[in-house]
Amino acid sequence: MKHGLLLLTLLASLCSTPARSTPTATPSADRAIEAKITALMARMTLTEKVGQLNFPSYAFPREPQLEAVKQGRIGGLLNVVNPAHVKDFEAVVQASRLKIPLLFAIDAIYAFHISFPTPIAWAATWRPELAERAAEAIALETAQTGVNLTFAPMIDISRDPRWGRVIEGAGEDPLLGAAFAAARVRGYRKGGLATSAKHFVGYGAPEGGRDYNGAQISAPELFDRYIPPFQAAIEAGSETVMASFNTVNGVPVTANRRLITDVLKTRLGFDGLVMSDFAAIMELKNHGVAADLADAARRALHAGIDFDMESKAYDRHLEAAVEAGKVPISEVDAAVRRILRVKYRMGLFEDSPGGVRKIPAKMDEETVRKRAREVARESFVLLKNSGATLPITEASGTVALIGSAALSTNDHSWYGPADLEKPRTETLLNALLTRIGDRQRLLYSEAFADPCGQSFKDKEHALSIARGADLIVLIVSEDCTVSGEGASRADLTLSGVQQEMLDALSKIGKPIALVVETGRPLALSAANELVASMLIAWNPGTEGRTALAEVLLGEVAPSGKLPMTFPRSVGQIPISYSDLPTSRPATGDRYTTGYVDEKPTPLYPFGHGLSYTTFEYSGLKISAPAVRANGKIEVRVEVKNAGLRAGQEVVQLYTRQTVASRSRPMRELKGFEKIALQPGEQRTVRFMLPASALGYHDEDGNKIVEAGPIRVFVGGSSAADLETGFDITD
Ligand code: NOJ
Repeated sequence: MKHGLLLLTLLASLCSTPARSTPTATPSADRAIEAKITALMARMTLTEKVGQLNFPSYAFPREPQLEAVKQGRIGGLLNVVNPAHVKDFEAVVQASRLKIPLLFAIDAIYAFHISFPTPIAWAATWRPELAERAAEAIALETAQTGVNLTFAPMIDISRDPRWGRVIEGAGEDPLLGAAFAAARVRGYRKGGLATSAKHFVGYGAPEGGRDYNGAQISAPELFDRYIPPFQAAIEAGSETVMASFNTVNGVPVTANRRLITDVLKTRLGFDGLVMSDFAAIMELKNHGVAADLADAARRALHAGIDFDMESKAYDRHLEAAVEAGKVPISEVDAAVRRILRVKYRMGLFEDSPGGVRKIPAKMDEETVRKRAREVARESFVLLKNSGATLPITEASGTVALIGSAALSTNDHSWYGPADLEKPRTETLLNALLTRIGDRQRLLYSEAFADPCGQSFKDKEHALSIARGADLIVLIVSEDCTVSGEGASRADLTLSGVQQEMLDALSKIGKPIALVVETGRPLALSAANELVASMLIAWNPGTEGRTALAEVLLGEVAPSGKLPMTFPRSVGQIPISYSDLPTSRPATGDRYTTGYVDEKPTPLYPFGHGLSYTTFEYSGLKISAPAVRANGKIEVRVEVKNAGLRAGQEVVQLYTRQTVASRSRPMRELKGFEKIALQPGEQRTVRFMLPASALGYHDEDGNKIVEAGPIRVFVGGSSAADLETGFDITD
């Protein structure tokens, strides 16, 4: 053994560990299910086997698909959300030879009917239990329709806010990401839906932040940064995993046997179903790795893609390929077994009741709304609050509220059933007016012609009310169409004329509180200079503007923390608190890391977020000066609410290994806890830190816990400066 290195898993290659059974199923249940599958498969024709692998979108007219289901040529359908239509398909299943139930899947991500804040906001709460409650409520609404699988959670780690899909994930950190991945899986499953952890793997690291582009990921990064949320989702019981569209190190994941079979199925022991993303098998031709659809089908199946979403490649070509001896039947059988295993585990077969499909009763709308508001309240991140400009109190005097987003009822439902009525949603203006009543004057101007401030409606009116006020509250919004899939951005400053409005308002000389609705971190340096307060409201959902009013008025104190770094400018991206050190740490000198035209630091670091009170940290202690690689250490800190208002603080623990065989990140999040403290109250927060959690992976994918010095930082953000340390010993 190399001196000082403790290899936790010795792997000559990434594929040498044997598969293990899923942690959620008991071995005896597994055996019973496997026996049922074996018996069923013995009765299946090749057509019926290939049919199980076919996962098309619901299409109209419906007759051809109903007939295909009857012939056993479809394993699941996307986007059937009308309960009557689900029933029609189920009736046809009953008329089919083998009566194998269907998977019905949709993207129920943060909404079915009542919209929750978007998932990046869930992560900003730093309370996975809220995400679990949110996912459960969404699943309960969805499952009542007969849908049994959600294409969620999206758990891609990303350090690149140019990539529009950061809105769907938990941000940049593997530990936070893993905690939210597991919580979301638990929640959806509790609510009656099977889950699809997506997109395995590296989809969040596309070059240049351009959606669908390739990623270059080293083995240490793959295992240390991108895989932990998938591991957590699998351990929490995710029945399915969706492969990502992009290439990783030059090979499309959809055709990547090393990633899908060797890493996901073998090394991580995932024994559920792996599906392609939408039309991704067909798109192997675009990637330039398949000559035609038949070739694409063979490559994807060989890589380990069990379920063909929408390409119809398996449906059209696998039967002939098996008959021609081009595809071994064992590969088809392996995929069929996984799909049937998931269907059995979900409780879809009559002789296997239980599983996620034991749908609990519908949750009443008020409870769903309550949960949505709870997430929104805790997700808002107060980045700045000079002179205690917020909350708005009577002492704030006359308030000028500016911005058409204050009239918006867009609750950002972006997938979901078209024929449901949009839920009632309060506007921010209304929520503020009802709460303020005649306590103080609230003036309002839309300023912009649209909720996202693409152009002015009446700039002069906005300026005139601002002149007559003591406090200006400007609400701006990221361009409404540019978050989510296919929405990469090269410019992350405020869109349209919103910055121009802010510039003009700043000349009036009144304090400005800026409220930003956004699906991603923006580059807000220019805005930051001009405002006293800045509150990130994300896309807050159906109950979001009510929650926003509560926080702006101080009925609820902000307690969110950034799950992703806010850069100063786009040129800094990718930027993370957990970057590796360099040969020349930034000192301001030209020949050190950084830019000649930009500071090396972000505008606001990961983990940052203020409240209406302040917290003091002291008494940082560790239980021992040294720990063995198989041992653990307790880290303890005193946290005090030093202000006059109650508040919540996310206590964060970071470590850094200063000497190791590889450069180790400047900081890594190793623990967090959100606590509520009354004014003057002090609490001891304890973290139990196993030395194994400080390990990392080498270039061959071996997990190593290396002897050496560890620095420990505890505080309210990744810039925490209260420090101690210990050694890991051999
Ligand atoms: C493509 C997206 O990448 C994926 O996340 C989604 O689940 C599918 N479309 C199905 O809508």
